[in-house]
Amino acid sequence: MNPLLIDLFEQGNLAQSIAAHLSIEIANFTLRNFPDGETYIKIESNCQNREIIVLASLEHPNVKILPLLFLARTLHTLGVKRIGLCAPYLAYMRQDKQFNAGEGITSEYFAELLSHYFDWLVTIDPHLHRHLSLNEIYSIPNTVIHAAPAIAKWIANNVKNPLLIGPDMESEQWVKDVAKKANAPYLILEKVRLGDREVNVSQPEIEAYHSHTPILIDDIISTGHTLLATIKQLTQLKMKPPICIGIHGIFADEAYDKLLHAGVAQIVTSNTISHPSNQIDLSFEIANEIKIRYILV
Ligand code: R5P
Repeated sequence: MNPLLIDLFEQGNLAQSIAAHLSIEIANFTLRNFPDGETYIKIESNCQNREIIVLASLEHPNVKILPLLFLARTLHTLGVKRIGLCAPYLAYMRQDKQFNAGEGITSEYFAELLSHYFDWLVTIDPHLHRHLSLNEIYSIPNTVIHAAPAIAKWIANNVKNPLLIGPDMESEQWVKDVAKKANAPYLILEKVRLGDREVNVSQPEIEAYHSHTPILIDDIISTGHTLLATIKQLTQLKMKPPICIGIHGIFADEAYDKLLHAGVAQIVTSNTISHPSNQIDLSFEIANEIKIRYILV
């Protein structure tokens, strides 16, 4: 039978596009909480001997992880062939070492859990920093899709004379790649993180770029403070209002409104996490990788 897609946390448009690209069915299921907060799950589609693709972006992972693991467990009891996880945003990638004595390296623990319940993993630009590859922590076959080509295309279609700016050394891997593909200059700044909501970013050297449109690019926009600190520097230098591009727009702490009020020209994200700022559609890239690596084999 055809593979089946489960849109576990209602990513609607993304799920429909992926299913359409793969010509597969979207499963019917019920996921709800009992009054005491425990999870109820029931799969209504026939799963017997089928390849299952679970679409589940994992922002706010703590509320999602139990339903996700219970789903995988339920699917196994229904006799599925394999279960793949398509997590366009993969959580728990940033605590990738023990920064202070006594801390848990949660990126490893999260990877162990998912590797136990799923047969393969597809994700978009996970925050790989000290872990150079997902294989260091995930024991299942995995595929990382890069958003850089789609971001470069968006820039080429929408911005004249762009200057790409990465707020920290970690962003260089994304910014450099986009800059090359968009044939645009780029600068990488230095960031010092003083706390969850406190960051300092160095002042860019922009003498040669005053007529350019600054585009700030980061993989994750969480509290927005990394971008807010960068915007502050650009405002002091009297640059044009910047465009902010995030691959994964989490927008914790009303970050979206804070960024809009800070005077940005536009905030653009990819559709790894559903949000009104989604302008970069990655459904084709996701479907294509799933098809080539996991469905046709
Ligand atoms: C970390 O280095 C990431 O690349 C992002 O810069 C970071 O997650 C952004 O977080 P926030 O929006 O809370 O500053």
